[in-house]
Amino acid sequence: MGFKEEIKRRRTFGIVSHPDAGKTTLTEKLLLFGGAIRVAGAVKSNKIKKGATSDFMEIERQRGISVATSVMGFEYRDYKVNILDTPGHQDFQEDTFRTLTAVDSVIIVIDAAKGVEPQTEKLMNVCRMRKTPVMVFINKLDRPSRDTFSLLDEIEEQLKLKTRPLSWPINSGADFKGVYNIYKRSLNLFDADVQEIQPAIKFEDVNDPTLENHIGNDAIELREELELVEGVYPEFDREAYLAGELAPVFFGSALYNFGVQELLDAFVEIAPSPKPSFSEEREINPEEEGLTGFVFKIHANIDPNHRSRIAFVKICSGRFERNAVYKHIRTGKNMRISSPTAFMASQKEVIDEAFPGDIIGVPDTGNLIIGDTITSGEDVHFKGLPSFSPEMFRYIENADPMKSKQLAKGVDQLMEEGVAQLFTSQFNGRKIIGTVGQLQFEVIQYRLEHEYGAKCRFETLPMHKACWIECDDQKMLTEFKKRKHQKMAVDKRGRDVFMADSGFILQMAQDEFKDIKFHFTSEF
Ligand code: G4P
Repeated sequence: MGFKEEIKRRRTFGIVSHPDAGKTTLTEKLLLFGGAIRVAGAVKSNKIKKGATSDFMEIERQRGISVATSVMGFEYRDYKVNILDTPGHQDFQEDTFRTLTAVDSVIIVIDAAKGVEPQTEKLMNVCRMRKTPVMVFINKLDRPSRDTFSLLDEIEEQLKLKTRPLSWPINSGADFKGVYNIYKRSLNLFDADVQEIQPAIKFEDVNDPTLENHIGNDAIELREELELVEGVYPEFDREAYLAGELAPVFFGSALYNFGVQELLDAFVEIAPSPKPSFSEEREINPEEEGLTGFVFKIHANIDPNHRSRIAFVKICSGRFERNAVYKHIRTGKNMRISSPTAFMASQKEVIDEAFPGDIIGVPDTGNLIIGDTITSGEDVHFKGLPSFSPEMFRYIENADPMKSKQLAKGVDQLMEEGVAQLFTSQFNGRKIIGTVGQLQFEVIQYRLEHEYGAKCRFETLPMHKACWIECDDQKMLTEFKKRKHQKMAVDKRGRDVFMADSGFILQMAQDEFKDIKFHFTSEF
């Protein structure tokens, strides 16, 4: 197969949802169709169970599992599908945001009884920022669900996303009969007692009176609703979907493996193949010969006995070849990757080549960090791996004076891995860790002790938000820093960060210093 064909057949995407909507279940069912796993239950959830915030063994165990399940590749029909897993727990949302920079499209799972939930909204904001094409799977139709039209309205309003149903449910809960597949014009019947997937029944025209033979009087309501759908929603417009403006919607029950194959079939047909990526210097087309790729995730110290790390690299252009010499742009050094791995479900295997859209695992001894670019030689830098303004802050202190070196090294490496963000106060020189959730502090403390033999103590720092500031007017910047000198810090790249005590104080500062730009992500 030619290079261009290899790119065209790739579908690299992420599944996101509010915890418990069914992301893990759906992923597993997709893998079953792809033949990547044979039995249900093979994909372990990498979510941290509610209330288990102190169960470090659980976190450790899941870290191990989540390496294997971070990327899952499989062949389906003529397509190569790559699913990138995202952590469900909201304290790890930064990890999710970074993973979303490596996908070409997203499937959002929504619980049919609950509708749009807070985490769904946040994740959608990231997709919107990047204009990522989004497909929606409304799950758990086997349970009593909300009215279909009102669910779609809610998605349009809360996710600020136009929708176009491509399937339609026939009742829900105990009365759930199945879905009419608008995309394929066929009927899929649901039977909770039958394990095997029933073949779809072709129904070009729902006015066909034999529809009653299958779903009885529900046919009348289905016809009415479908007429309304055709009246209310414009024809499905693939271009609008690819531009991230319109979401096709499917319905089903991941638990019963119902509606999943229809979703997958439509997905491979309409979802995008790898798109151009944007470096600071120029737009890079996947079909270019020169290799480019970037590191979006790092897993360190999986095995406590070995300082082993795996860097996850998304290939953006060119054909990746094992043992070829590539340039590591940040250091300017050449590197040869001798055992790159691909991830096929729970197995890792060494590969000889990879194509744009693929994710490879690169064993690393500490040279690569998140955001690094690798190329055949050209000096380009990928952008778009933002850190977000943290919302929880603590001073970090050494609790074992004999181990200060270990602590410094551990903190450094964990920050590179993206576990949290480190700031240094310009006022007192103390180190501050900023996170988006409480759990990250616990993970840091635990990992410092177990992986680096260092002990730390945290001291709460009641702050509202940290934001990056810049200003063309040096005089004004100096004036601002003088006035706020107790609240100024620098990030790991030495850039100025303002730590606002409260939303009110931040607002006051913004009002008073109108020429200063306050940024809430690290990329601006
Ligand atoms: P998540 O990754 O989005 O957090 O959700 P996950 O797939 O783990 O699903 C959350 C719960 O919802 C699980 O139940 C799962 O079995 C259930 N679920 C997922 N899809 C469906 C569906 O289509 N219908 C119904 N009725 N339930 C569904 P649990 O009891 O929390 O976990 P488990 O003990 O069953 O694993």
